Amino acid sequence: MYEKKGIVVSGVRPTGKLHLGHYAGVLVNWLKFQEEYECYFEVADWHAMTDRTDFSQIPMHALEMVADWLSVGIDPQRSTIFLQSAIPEHAEFHLLLSMIIPIPWVEHCPVYKDIVDKKGIEHVSYALMGYPVLQAADIMLYKADKVPVGIDQAPHVELTREIIRRFNSLFGKLFPEPETILTETPRLLGVDGKKMSKSYNNSILLTDDEGAVKHKISLLVTDPQRIRKTDFGHPKVCSAFEYYKVFNKPNVSDIEKECKNGEIGCVACKSRLGDVLIDTFKDFRKKREYFKENPKEVSRILLEGTERARIVTKRTFNEVKKLAKITY
Ligand code: TRP
Repeated sequence: MYEKKGIVVSGVRPTGKLHLGHYAGVLVNWLKFQEEYECYFEVADWHAMTDRTDFSQIPMHALEMVADWLSVGIDPQRSTIFLQSAIPEHAEFHLLLSMIIPIPWVEHCPVYKDIVDKKGIEHVSYALMGYPVLQAADIMLYKADKVPVGIDQAPHVELTREIIRRFNSLFGKLFPEPETILTETPRLLGVDGKKMSKSYNNSILLTDDEGAVKHKISLLVTDPQRIRKTDFGHPKVCSAFEYYKVFNKPNVSDIEKECKNGEIGCVACKSRLGDVLIDTFKDFRKKREYFKENPKEVSRILLEGTERARIVTKRTFNEVKKLAKITY
């Protein structure tokens, strides 16, 4: 095997279908990194369980999500796709890390606060508070150099670095401090102009069919100051333009010019964008159909990846125990 540039770890919670926000915020970078880095992509099912008590849908979402990853081009020959809960070291290391983490470090985590605000959970679980610690365990077990995530997850990686500094100074230098990697367009807006999120019901799903994509794109919020087609547009404030930046890179300056000069109307512009998106995900839809017909292949890939990942986590956790003098 040829020398890789470094180690990449990332993950997604299996709580529902993947949407274009996941694609633009995270998957684009996964695809880039798998060319040159040793990549570990996690189905973060423990994380998915931290804000609910009904776990019944998670296994189904997990397998569908892996099918989405594979269809988008994540190559299981090159990247290791694994199931977090099937690797005991993730839970164990999380518990061990919790010994060295002062409560205020997790209490002030913005993502935790956000989930509490959004969901209005009255009795926040003990697990939700430990969410970023579990994420740190995920990252540390593989000694990641880079962590590609959506912008909302950046504080968790920052906290991971802090935990690593504390671990390294208490027990010995074992872990590198990983870098957060964001995409160029880390936030695509949903069809209503708010952050694209499953809970707002404003997402364009990777699995949406052509009709649904066209319809949803037509709802995108554009420059509110543009009334007539010939008005000069402001791509900076238009959510469709953000989509162009992700999905139609080579022609993005053309569309910018046409919009600014009032040469193309918003309706036509969005219709063109719909075509671009349908074309971009043509191959995806074909592969997704294949995995739908062959679910066993998806399970097999996940199982094999999990076995591969376990080799690494066992090794790291042994090193951790030795350094921390947990020797019996
Ligand atoms: N918390 C991340 C999210 O919701 C998912 C995740 C779990 C993750 N473990 C990770 C991301 C490790 C990066 C690295 O998106």
